[in-house]
Amino acid sequence: MVIFAKKKFMTDIDRIHQLREELHAHNHRYYIENAPVISDQAFDALLRELQDLEEKYPAYADPTSPTMRVGSDLNKEFTQIVHKYPMLSLGNTYSEGEVTDFYQRVSQALNEPFAVCCELKFDGTSISLTYEEGKLLYAVTRGDGTQGDDVTENVKTIRSIPLVLQGEGFPELFEIRGEILMPWNVFDTLNAERERREEPLFANPRNAASGTLKLQNSAMVAGRKLDAYLYYLLGETLPTDSHYENLQRVKKWGFKVSPTMKLAHSLEEILDFIHYWDVERKNLPVATDGIVLKVDSIRQQRNLGYTAKSPRWAIAYKFQAEKALTKLEYVSYQVGRTGAITPVANLQPVQLSGTIVKRASLHNADIIAQLDLHEGDMVYVEKGGEIIPKITAVDTAQRVPGSAAVQFISHCPECGTALVRFPDEAAHYCPNDTGCPPQLKGKIEHFISRKAMNIDGLGPETVDRFFQHGLLKNVADLYTLRVEDIVQLERLGEKTAENIVKSVMHSTEVPFERVLFALGIRFVGETVAKKLAVAFKDIEKLSTATIQELLEVNEIGERIAQSVQTYFRNAENQALIERLRMAGLQLALCETEYMPLSQTLAGKSIVISGVFSHHSRDEYKVMIEKHGGKNIGSISKKTSFVLAGENMGPAKLEKATSLGVAIVNEDEFLQMLSTTEEV
Ligand code: IVH
Repeated sequence: MVIFAKKKFMTDIDRIHQLREELHAHNHRYYIENAPVISDQAFDALLRELQDLEEKYPAYADPTSPTMRVGSDLNKEFTQIVHKYPMLSLGNTYSEGEVTDFYQRVSQALNEPFAVCCELKFDGTSISLTYEEGKLLYAVTRGDGTQGDDVTENVKTIRSIPLVLQGEGFPELFEIRGEILMPWNVFDTLNAERERREEPLFANPRNAASGTLKLQNSAMVAGRKLDAYLYYLLGETLPTDSHYENLQRVKKWGFKVSPTMKLAHSLEEILDFIHYWDVERKNLPVATDGIVLKVDSIRQQRNLGYTAKSPRWAIAYKFQAEKALTKLEYVSYQVGRTGAITPVANLQPVQLSGTIVKRASLHNADIIAQLDLHEGDMVYVEKGGEIIPKITAVDTAQRVPGSAAVQFISHCPECGTALVRFPDEAAHYCPNDTGCPPQLKGKIEHFISRKAMNIDGLGPETVDRFFQHGLLKNVADLYTLRVEDIVQLERLGEKTAENIVKSVMHSTEVPFERVLFALGIRFVGETVAKKLAVAFKDIEKLSTATIQELLEVNEIGERIAQSVQTYFRNAENQALIERLRMAGLQLALCETEYMPLSQTLAGKSIVISGVFSHHSRDEYKVMIEKHGGKNIGSISKKTSFVLAGENMGPAKLEKATSLGVAIVNEDEFLQMLSTTEEV
């Protein structure tokens, strides 16, 4: 039943429940059945109504509410959860002969008729979902197969994964596994956007999906539009003995199962499936890299058992990557914003997997040497799941006698400076970071980027124009930009100019650790910048720190320490920092932010479970950390106590009781913290 309007005499609480039920159903229709019955605007209106009501009645919060899909902005490290059943991988085969061997092996071992479930091998990142009483409890990555990262909050943002199950007949506690994917169209848009912002591109949808799942900010995950297919139901009490049938059943509970799976009763049918999908897979909206064959009967699966690494009842057949042979015309060299030099093979255009390939990355000098690449060589290019094709081999039989080996350049093609190579690094660099144009522009783009100074209204194109016109030579020039100067440039209106200047001014409030990251010191990423800021407190102390002092900071090694010292010893950088200081940037740590509030929970490992009234789960997590404790995902003997809200899952309750782990309710917990002395 779909109810669009609020009924008369309904309490707000009834309405909360009604809206949740309706929104879950609309979600299913939209993301699983591809058959929405209301417009996006109508959906958003219902969602907003629910958000408002949930804000008004925090006691009725529910971790599986449809509002949880928008994600939270809170940063957090992932906790690890041990897999109840290890997450094994599959044995890979690359030829039909090996598929035949697998079929015969199974046939001999079973010595009775059997069916094989043929499925596509989705090329994403695997996930294990645990449901308790029909509600999503955890989502855990494969990790090392024994334990993985708890990415529940991120997975909740994936609309095709049900938070609350539909229908009936599902086990009280079960696990279901599948693949999280980034559809091709989402991947293309994401990379186009990253290219525009000159951020590094994702090589393929698999990397993009796993990178997205590991983001620390679930609101960003929500924006990336991931999808998921489920392909493996586990548990002690499964609905039927057939894997195929079980997956048909889980569809009714709201899971997305690929419609491409098929039961085969002979080797011939299996090979037909392989031949069909080797071609047809190119028309699918998501990436696939092979076929998975699974003995269908769970009883037979149990009989066949496992080797140390993988099941004997299943195998993966990997598709061949497409290859093409073409001529190397010349090698060109790109200078990145960090000064890294990337050699690029410019090729005679050739058709490969539906696109025309003209260029391929050669990565670095070692790769060129390994390929023993000569000018004018005939080379094999492959796509193999990467968007940028690579050269995999040279056809030396076709080499023109006497042609010269490709020599890596010795000087920067942009500024002529002699290139350097750091020990243990494959890349060559142009060391002229205060004078080489792409590096100067790169430094400015990095400085204004969202995670650094977050200056809006200035994209790489505008930076390039400002640079060409001499308005911007380095990051300090940003703070002397005037509206009058900007409007002189063609196509830039007064409003835009004002916004740029306003946004620049705003950036003077960005905290020290981000300013430090924004400076773009080689090897100083976000995390290192934070560590240095906390350790040295202000830029004076950092800039005069000895190598020894730098090395004393946790996780700062020789390479970073050297780089920091080199940066601050450079007179041009010193002058730049002085100008940034004059402009009013934050060059010292704001003390209160990183100070722990107390050590009340020091040494305590705390599990959070259930629904809370006073604060969200994320807020409790931050509180635990600020008071010196550690938030962990699952209950064990080592757990100090469970912070329990309403509706704590019965399985958790039982486990805590049997292990003698204390249960602390919300009020008791807050009481515990309120009596702590400030440090
Ligand atoms: S079944 C014990 N089915 O391929 C069997 N895996 O090495 C568990 N994958 O890690 C896996 N599509 O990430 C299975 N239809 C499918 C799959 C699939 C993709 C991935 C999965 C797994 C890897 C196998």
